[in-house]
Amino acid sequence: MAVLKIARMGHPALMGIAEPVSDPRDPEIRRLVADMVDTMRDAPGIGLAAPQVHVPLRLVIYMVPEGRTDDGEGHPLTALINPEITVQDDALEEGVEGCLSLPGMAGRVARPRHIRINALDLDGNALEYEAEGYHARVVQHECDHLDGILYPMRMTDLASFGYVEEMTKAPE
Ligand code: NI
Repeated sequence: MAVLKIARMGHPALMGIAEPVSDPRDPEIRRLVADMVDTMRDAPGIGLAAPQVHVPLRLVIYMVPEGRTDDGEGHPLTALINPEITVQDDALEEGVEGCLSLPGMAGRVARPRHIRINALDLDGNALEYEAEGYHARVVQHECDHLDGILYPMRMTDLASFGYVEEMTKAPE
């Protein structure tokens, strides 16, 4: 078990364009994913991208808790190597996001609600599936990290950006 240090917003590690993984079956990649899972669970969080743990590679992990997908079943812990997203329709949906690189904060972001995901798994096999709603949001958020994009950079109204602890207080 290795819990890695997570870079916070402002750190240069979060700002670059990550490089493709050349060999998904490299044992080093498997070890990195295992450490990222430990780190994500320790935080705790539901997604983590390699640049957040100071590794500039196109690799993310995520899971969707039960009850948060349209069918309610959630999505199991998944590693996506060299992921590519294709927007399936132009409809946007707003939702609240948080990020382990901005601890304690949240904000509303509009994102395409229906996407297709193409990636490789840890055995080098092609993965292809569609995601909608919250599931699509999580994947887009994580993949944004591979291009140096954090969710506040996607926000159109910073009035909804703030500390979760303050947002949950009753208005005075
Ligand atoms: Ni994030």
